[in-house]
Amino acid sequence: MHEAGHAFLARLGKTKLRPDGIDATNWLVEKAGIGPDTKILEVACNMGTTMIMLAKKYGCSVTGLDLDEKALTKARENIEKNGLADRLQVLQASAFELPFEDASFDIVINEAMLTMLTGDSKDRALAEYARVLKPGGVLLTKSAAQAPSFRHGVKPRIAVRR
Ligand SMILES: C[S@@+](CC[C@H](N)C(=O)[O-])C[C@H]1O[C@@H](n2cnc3c(N)ncnc32)[C@H](O)[C@@H]1O
Repeated sequence: MHEAGHAFLARLGKTKLRPDGIDATNWLVEKAGIGPDTKILEVACNMGTTMIMLAKKYGCSVTGLDLDEKALTKARENIEKNGLADRLQVLQASAFELPFEDASFDIVINEAMLTMLTGDSKDRALAEYARVLKPGGVLLTKSAAQAPSFRHGVKPRIAVRR
């Protein structure tokens, strides 16, 4: 039986789904060698917090997507407020069907979402991330998982934070 990570964490008493919070985000992005020309896709951008931080810190452009249109409305407001509309754009789409051509991005970042998926759906999302990443591209993610299971030829480079 597959149990979604957030249900598992809730049983352990965790009330927040963002494993390790901003510290883990910083740890991930610092390893990615991001520069102004790095093409980044953030899947599950929610209200745009991470993509705004990336644009401010590295001067890069980021495309963000999420399923939740209300969160995206807030993201657009936050992007405007920070004067970053020329570098950040958001759209409504699903991790399972990314509306981009193969090999479009240097980095895909996806935090606190894979944890919500079980078995096959996690593999499907990972396969989409691998498809839109350029050769040598990097997936930055953090997720709670009981056992890794990468199929469909997906071979992400994984950094493990202990
Ligand atoms: C716990 S929030 C994490 C948001 C943000 N990444 C963070 O770390 O704060 C999970 C987000 O995943 C989005 N989401 C869930 N399933 C999705 C899917 N299949 N495709 C795109 N976004 C999805 C939700 O709408 C929500 O905004």
